[in-house]
Amino acid sequence: MPFSTYMDWALHDPEHGAYGAGRLRIGPCGDFATAPSLGPAFAELLAPQLVEWLESWADCSPQGPISLVEAGPGEGQLALDLAQQIHLRWPALAARLELVLVEPNGGMAERQHQQLASCPLPVRWTSFEQLAVEPVHGVVLAHEVLDALAVERFEHHRGQWCRQRVQLRDTTVELVAAEQLSPAELETLVDLGLEQPGEARPEGWCSELHSGLGPWLSACGSALASGWLLVIDYALEAWRYYAPARASGTLMAYRGQRASADPLLDPGHWDLTAHLCTDSLDRAALLTGWHPLGQCRQGEALLALGLAQALHALSAESTGAGLGERLQRREALLRLVDPAALGDFRWLVYGRGLPAGDVRHPCPPLFLREPPLP
Ligand SMILES: C[S@@+](CC[C@H](N)C(=O)[O-])C[C@H]1O[C@@H](n2cnc3c(N)ncnc32)[C@H](O)[C@@H]1O
Repeated sequence: MPFSTYMDWALHDPEHGAYGAGRLRIGPCGDFATAPSLGPAFAELLAPQLVEWLESWADCSPQGPISLVEAGPGEGQLALDLAQQIHLRWPALAARLELVLVEPNGGMAERQHQQLASCPLPVRWTSFEQLAVEPVHGVVLAHEVLDALAVERFEHHRGQWCRQRVQLRDTTVELVAAEQLSPAELETLVDLGLEQPGEARPEGWCSELHSGLGPWLSACGSALASGWLLVIDYALEAWRYYAPARASGTLMAYRGQRASADPLLDPGHWDLTAHLCTDSLDRAALLTGWHPLGQCRQGEALLALGLAQALHALSAESTGAGLGERLQRREALLRLVDPAALGDFRWLVYGRGLPAGDVRHPCPPLFLREPPLP
C-alpha cells in the first residue's frame, strides 16, 4: 500500500490506530509533550489573539453565536484552558461563544469529554462535514494537528521520483520504491523547487508530500463561513524542507518520550508525524479559498503577546505562588520560546469570508503587529 495509507491506518484506525484507539497520551508523562501540556501559560498568552479576532466578528455582527473551533484537541487541555481564560477575562464575549471540537478519533474524543466536563462554555463535538451544513463564524485553531495528516513518501529511484509503498514480506513490513509519482504530484514537486532528480539527490534520497492538506483545508473552509484559521506546528520553507542535505525527510515516530526515525516500528503504537512545509500549506490554502494573512515563529509570536511580561511578573512575590511553583512556571515559559524546540514552531494565519478590506489590507494579527512608537 502507499505509505500514506499505512500512516493513515497506523494513526487513525478506530481499533488499531495510535489515535483512533486513543492509545497515545499527550503530556510530559505521556508519549510526547505539546505546548498546552506544559501548563496553562500557553493558553493565557494565546487567548488575547483569539479574542481580538472573535471580538472583531462580534462587532461586525451583534447577533448570533460566535465559534471557537479547535481541530484535533488531543487531551482537550488547550480547549479547557482557553475556555477558562475567556470566561474569566472576557465575560461579554464568553456569553456569545461556543466551543466546537473537531476530533475524528473516537478514542481521543472520549478523553476530551472527560477533560471538558467542567468547561465553562457550551461545547459540542462535530465534524467539518456536519458543520458545512450550517457553517460557523469565528476562529479555527489547529495546534499540532496538520502534522498528523497522512503524508505521501517518495524517493529518488533510478532517475525517477517514485512513490514509497509499505509491503509485508512474511511477517516483516518494509518500505520499497514503487511506481513513479503521478503527473500532478510531479508538478507539485517542481512548484516546490524540486526539479527532476539528478546529481543533487543521491539514489534513495527521500522526502514527503503533503497530499492531505488540500482536502483538510477544503473541508475546514466549508465549515467556516467567515473567520480565521490559525495553524501552529513545526514547519519548514520548501527550500529547507527539500534541501539535498535532508536526505530522509522529516518523518518521526514518538512513544513514551522516545523518538525514532523508523515509521514502521510496532504500527499503531507510535505517533507518526511529519513537519509541515510552509510553501505547500500556502499553496494548498490559496487553492482552497483561504487568504494567507501572515506567519512567524512561535518565539516571536509569544513574545509579542506578552511572554516577557509574564516572566517578569513571576519575579514579583505578590503572585502568591511559592518559589518552587514560580520556578516551574518560569521553566514552562522558557520552553515555549526555546529557539531549538517549541520556539521554532510556526504560527500561520489564514482568513476567509472576511470583509474585502480585511483581506486586501488586513489588520495584522496581534502577534505580527509592530509595537507602537514611543
Ligand atoms: C499531536 S495531537 C495534538 C493535540 C493538541 N492539539 C495538542 O497540541 O496538545 C493531534 C490531534 O489531532 C487529532 N487528529 C488527527 N487527524 C485529525 C484530523 N484529520 N482532523 C482533526 N483532528 C485530527 C488526533 O486525534 C489528536 O487529537
